[in-house]
Amino acid sequence: MIKISPSILSCDYGIMAQELKCMEDCGVELMHIDVMDGHFVPNITLGAPVVKCIKKYTTVPFDVHLMISNPIEYIEDFSKAGADLISFHIESDSPVKETIQKIKENGVKAAIAIKPGTPASLLMPYLDELSMVLVMTVEPGFGGQSFMCDMMDKVREIREEIRKRCLDIDIEVDGGINAETIEIAAKAGANVFVSGSAIFSSDDRKATVAQYKERAERNFCK
Ligand code: DX5
Ligand code: ZN
Repeated sequence: MIKISPSILSCDYGIMAQELKCMEDCGVELMHIDVMDGHFVPNITLGAPVVKCIKKYTTVPFDVHLMISNPIEYIEDFSKAGADLISFHIESDSPVKETIQKIKENGVKAAIAIKPGTPASLLMPYLDELSMVLVMTVEPGFGGQSFMCDMMDKVREIREEIRKRCLDIDIEVDGGINAETIEIAAKAGANVFVSGSAIFSSDDRKATVAQYKERAERNFCK
């Protein structure tokens, strides 16, 4: 299933509740919430108290992307705050197996995120335990960057392994997704698309989301 997950990093934080409602009205499947600690990445965004506060403004599931050094320390907080899915970085300081387990113990779907410089091979030992894999198509830390086409080999490699093991796991691409790059990523085998600046800067957000879905459906290679 194709899913659009707008990154609220690019929304107007001053009217976040309305922005969430707007995305819900646009028919998005997930809400991508970028959490940054200023240590794992050179930017600071929001924490669990904000997630808890905004949860009541939408019924769209929260796709929480932890770009923090010690994710295992915060799994319970973000789970209680309303995360429906938590992605943490394999490059973080937390033990991978234990972090996956902690996410699941809290009743939340688990995903691993990998930075552009990290090979897909590092994911393979954990693939069977995951609901999703997040492949960064920009260096984590900021919105509005350009899509890294050379990440598509990694997406193809992961999709091939999922196919081989007959698993039902989503592949999310995150960074620089727009009307053109969504087609490239869908062709490679991604089925969940994070888009921040391209959606929130659009004059007609509803049409943009619909266009992204149509293009992804038309090009998706399972
Ligand atoms: C970057 C974040 C992305 C980013 C996407 O570290 O993980 O989710 O907000 O924003 P765009 O779509 O503008 O690249
Ligand atoms: Zn993200």
